[in-house]
Amino acid sequence: MKVWAVANQKGGVAKTTTVITLAGHLAAKGLRCLLLDLDPHGSLTSYFKQDPDSLEKSAYNLFQMHQLYSNNQIKELILHSEVEGIDFIPASISMATLDRQLGSQEGKGLVIKKTVDLLADEYDYVLIDCPPVLGVLMVNALAACTHVLVPVQTEFLALKGLERMHNTLNMIVKARQHGVSFTIIPVMFDRRTRASIDSLRALREKYGTELWSGVIPVDTGFRMASQKGLPLSTCSRSSRGSKAYAELLDSLINPNRQPDLKLVTNE
Ligand SMILES: Nc1ncnc2c1ncn2[C@@H]1O[C@H](COP(=O)(O)OP(=O)(O)OP(=O)(O)O)[C@@H](O)[C@H]1O
Ligand SMILES: [Mg+2]
Repeated sequence: MKVWAVANQKGGVAKTTTVITLAGHLAAKGLRCLLLDLDPHGSLTSYFKQDPDSLEKSAYNLFQMHQLYSNNQIKELILHSEVEGIDFIPASISMATLDRQLGSQEGKGLVIKKTVDLLADEYDYVLIDCPPVLGVLMVNALAACTHVLVPVQTEFLALKGLERMHNTLNMIVKARQHGVSFTIIPVMFDRRTRASIDSLRALREKYGTELWSGVIPVDTGFRMASQKGLPLSTCSRSSRGSKAYAELLDSLINPNRQPDLKLVTNE
């Protein structure tokens, strides 16, 4: 089982969109995906038409099980999306209190790791949607994952935020017994704007091989897909945004097949 955490301490950089669109492509390949909504705001949960303010059970419950829980207990938290092959554990607003509640409780950083370990036979991929803050939820995601995806907007202010995320990742990598690899993904790329082109160049100069060599273009289809509650890859497979995420997935699954830099375009 592969576990990918999608994380960036900056808000609104397409973390949730990345989780959902990649899941759509994975499910289309017949792979079983579990999405974990670890953001107390519950955007992923709302995307799939559930209300994070009124759910009785959510990822919050995982942090309340003090014993080593069984996978049957975890399965009670899993909901099915409308898309065959995509299940999810929703978030609830109560998760915002976890940092304060758990204090220095032992093992609080490994709750999600234990959860995914118990589900190893049930899913091919677990994709974790992280909140935009470094707290117990993000620490759990980074301890549980086999790879981190860091979406970053192609604009200069986002580069500063990326530096912060990069430092966080380096810190976590040092704390883990086994390192963790990560891929930075340039998103919301608009080739008509100087800012997009210049910031992409700056990203390439600074991050080199840690950066995916493709780009996710601006595509209004993402907003429409979110209104329908479906991944863009499910409702508009041939759209530019969907194709770009298919390319991204391809290079994550086959790291030797990076798209040619010259092909970087949002046409
Ligand atoms: N490539 C894109 N082109 C156009 N719009 C996009 C693109 N990617 C994401 N969006 C839109 O940008 C908004 C923010 O995206 P998203 O919710 O995925 O970000 P996020 O990083 O999860 O935000 P938060 O930090 O609040 O959880 C959404 O309305 C989404 O539909
Ligand atoms: Mg989000």
